[in-house]
Amino acid sequence: MKIYVTQPIPSAGLEVLRRAYPNFQINPEERVLSRAELLAKIKGGDAILSLLTDKIDAEVLDTAGPQLKVVANMAVGYDNIDLAAATSRGVMATNTPGVLTDATADHAWALLFAAARRIPESEKFLRAGKFKSWGPLLFLGGDVTGRTLGIIGAGRIGHAVAMKSRGFNMRVLYADELPNAKLEQEIGARKVRVEELLREADFVSVHVPLLPSTKHLINALSLRLMKKTAYLINTSRGPVVDEAALAEALKNGVIAGAALDVFENEPLVHPELLKLDNVVLTPHTASATIETRSKMATMAAENLIAGLAGQRPPNLVNGEVWGKHQTKS
Ligand code: DGY
Repeated sequence: MKIYVTQPIPSAGLEVLRRAYPNFQINPEERVLSRAELLAKIKGGDAILSLLTDKIDAEVLDTAGPQLKVVANMAVGYDNIDLAAATSRGVMATNTPGVLTDATADHAWALLFAAARRIPESEKFLRAGKFKSWGPLLFLGGDVTGRTLGIIGAGRIGHAVAMKSRGFNMRVLYADELPNAKLEQEIGARKVRVEELLREADFVSVHVPLLPSTKHLINALSLRLMKKTAYLINTSRGPVVDEAALAEALKNGVIAGAALDVFENEPLVHPELLKLDNVVLTPHTASATIETRSKMATMAAENLIAGLAGQRPPNLVNGEVWGKHQTKS
């Protein structure tokens, strides 16, 4: 069996893999492989343990060859995988749901507070030696307690972000295609249309997957619907927010602030956003805790091993391939 891991992952995951397949191959460097390197490395592979930074498309799948059985992504999102191409070739694709829910939701809250209370901006000011005295007008931000939280996408992570608002006594609105009865019962969250949520919320936190229908869901028009005093938080996928429109809105006081962990063209960040003080920026680290990343790595390894062993991987995302795969093996 040829198994290829595209970057170093936490040792817990590597250990699981090593026990089943001691001779797996790995890119030893903490960097994304170039396209040419990726194609060369996965050639003849039976399984790939991929990251969200690896574009797994028809060319990659064909270069690997017809023996390729599993692409185990170490992420809950799998928009980096061409699922239709994988399915039509009988390749199982898997993800790592659940284990990163709380870490990601915690980070959304960290960003919310950082933006509302202007933490990075005021810290920079202090470190620059500019803090001369307490001031009644120094770094005024926005209240959080008692305000309205708007969750766009009330799946696992959106739900967790909403639940964590209990300590801050917030009114919670959510927009989703499906009702989330549990969230409504547990904290009295109310399902509304996106437009109503944007008009009403003091904090809008985005938790949708990247799909053709969610690309630029937050655009110039939606930003104009928001309150001038509101904040936007995005820990989902960068292209869900039109960064150029957001930069304009932040510059012109259309909204008060924003906090982003994900970007349209990662690792690039829109140059106008980099110039602004009213946006907090983190490098796609919402799930980056030691414990969470270890669980993600372990889960990805277990998915890969199950798929190669002819078992249905616990987190198969293209379930329709399962019958096909059994025929193939
Ligand atoms: C994911 O898993 O999809 C996150 O973006 C990275 O943890």
